[in-house]
Amino acid sequence: MLETEATLEIQQLVAEFRPGNADLLRALHKVQHRYGYVPKEAMGVIARQLRLGEAHVYGTATFYSELRLTPPPEKRVDWCSGPACRLKGSTHVRKVLESVLGIGMEENTENDKLGLHLAQCNGTCDFAPQIWVDGKVVGPLTAADTVKLARELKDEAK
Ligand code: FES
Repeated sequence: MLETEATLEIQQLVAEFRPGNADLLRALHKVQHRYGYVPKEAMGVIARQLRLGEAHVYGTATFYSELRLTPPPEKRVDWCSGPACRLKGSTHVRKVLESVLGIGMEENTENDKLGLHLAQCNGTCDFAPQIWVDGKVVGPLTAADTVKLARELKDEAK
């Protein structure tokens, strides 16, 4: 196998982990902590290090929702799916965001500048319906606010 700079770096990163030691999740988390996600090059490196099949490593990486296989977006938009937000019209907010941005939940724009995520109530229901832009609450959103905000986010993501 041709070693690249990336695979050599990942090899060093996971060198401490041993086969038969239940280290797979720890290795995946260490790689994600370093890069913000688990690059596809890491699957083979971890598989060889732990003497596991690459499909086994990939299956584990895709099973756990906290592990990402794509780079994190530059800007993260969380849509609250909680009950107070729903009662106050968050379904409309979601439809507008998905339509204007051209992506669905848990997707990034093609250039990875913006990602849309489904979130749970975080207790800031006074601002329902709301979204969080890089963790900052934006709400309560009227229908007009939502369209304006979605267009602004789209422009920023170009
Ligand atoms: S339901 Fe959305 S913040 Fe509580």
